[in-house]
Amino acid sequence: MTDPALADEGVRKIHYSERSMPLLSALASRFRAERPFDGMTISACLHVTAETAVLARTLRAGGARVALAASNPLSTQDDIAAALAECDGVEVHAKAGVGRDAYYEHIALAAGGEGPDLVIDDGGDLVHTLHAHAPSRTPLGGCESTTTGVLRLRRMAAEGALAFPMIAASDTPVKRLVDDRHGTGQSVIDGLLRASGVLLAGKTVVIAGFGPCGTGIAEAARGLGARVLVTEVDPVRALDAMLRGFRVLPLAEAAPFGEVFITATGSVGVITAEHMAVMRDGAILANAGHFDVEIDLQGLADLAVAVEADVRPHADAYELPDGRRLFLLAEGRVVNLVAADGNPAEVMDVAFGIEALTLAWLARNAEKLSPDVHPVPPDIDAEAARLVISSLGAEIDTLTDTQHSYLASWRLGS
Ligand SMILES: NC(=O)c1ccc[n+]([C@@H]2O[C@H](COP(=O)([O-])OP(=O)(O)OC[C@H]3O[C@@H](n4cnc5c(N)ncnc54)[C@H](O)[C@@H]3O)[C@@H](O)[C@H]2O)c1
Repeated sequence: MTDPALADEGVRKIHYSERSMPLLSALASRFRAERPFDGMTISACLHVTAETAVLARTLRAGGARVALAASNPLSTQDDIAAALAECDGVEVHAKAGVGRDAYYEHIALAAGGEGPDLVIDDGGDLVHTLHAHAPSRTPLGGCESTTTGVLRLRRMAAEGALAFPMIAASDTPVKRLVDDRHGTGQSVIDGLLRASGVLLAGKTVVIAGFGPCGTGIAEAARGLGARVLVTEVDPVRALDAMLRGFRVLPLAEAAPFGEVFITATGSVGVITAEHMAVMRDGAILANAGHFDVEIDLQGLADLAVAVEADVRPHADAYELPDGRRLFLLAEGRVVNLVAADGNPAEVMDVAFGIEALTLAWLARNAEKLSPDVHPVPPDIDAEAARLVISSLGAEIDTLTDTQHSYLASWRLGS
């Protein structure tokens, strides 16, 4: 399925990313010696990018057979897929731009055969497929990489439908901080700028959702001089946004004067046709949430009298009856992965490093876990942070014995 002629270009990109991924490089050396996945198959459903390739190579170094499908039909980089298939012995089922049916067929192929020992998922489609077409054996367990996938898993577990333990890798404090906030914050603005070419300084940018992703996007947009407005449904998150100096208001109020709208809620139907009907000429719509359900795409299509596709790469213009034009980026899918390269390698190093450590832990311990959603063991989060800090050439202090005793005691006051 992959085009071998693209492999050389993919190898160059993978090597470039690898230089910025010291945690995975350190883990590859460790895994090469310890072989935690010997004889195991790991099925992965991830964006097929250079950083994912570095993870796949790390798991291969630990002895795993790796089968990879894409977690989004638009985010696959064909040269990376070719490099992994041709040079790294990874079984790749992914091609850029395939339709919905092929997307799910690819996931079924990556999940197929006897079924994997371990899984790594991004959004829940692989785990869902494993439950829908149960393979001959049940996986030992796996990791989920994103908030939307964890929410899906929790709903499955609540209904008693989850057949094996899954670790909520996206919930660790380190991943939340580095990946969601700093990584997504920067890369979503990168995707927005590449697809739209706008100057953000002085623009009114509306961010829907002030979770770690929305927070990062809001701060990155403000850093470029945008006037940032935030919409929320959670009072605590709304208060957080206000105390950081953002104006918080309902989306219906922001709709007529926002110039750029970015959704990052993980929810559905956030920007509706009613909002779009009152938007100003030239308003730009983009989504950072995992699925393309946050902007009402059907509502936008129904509202429009004409659509001009690809006015720029990854930007479509929707003309409203009175001549106003709204610009939809990346077809409403994750703009940082479709219109840009996704999160920077340094960021994915941390996120994937936590997942690689967790998979190695699961290979030894999964049988002790119930079929539920579990947190990443706290030692793994701290170990990942420690390895990254040292790879950046920094050191931190350690508690003295006196400090340990003081913090452990409730008898000592001032
Ligand atoms: N693009 C990427 O690279 C990337 C990276 C990480 C996560 N994600 C995805 O981004 C989404 C957000 O992630 P997160 O970790 O910040 O999630 P989160 O659940 O921590 O935060 C989402 C916030 O949106 C708010 N919200 C929900 N419905 C809303 C509505 N109708 N209007 C306004 N606010 C609303 C919630 O109250 C919450 O505060 C998820 O789908 C996640 O999977 C994308």
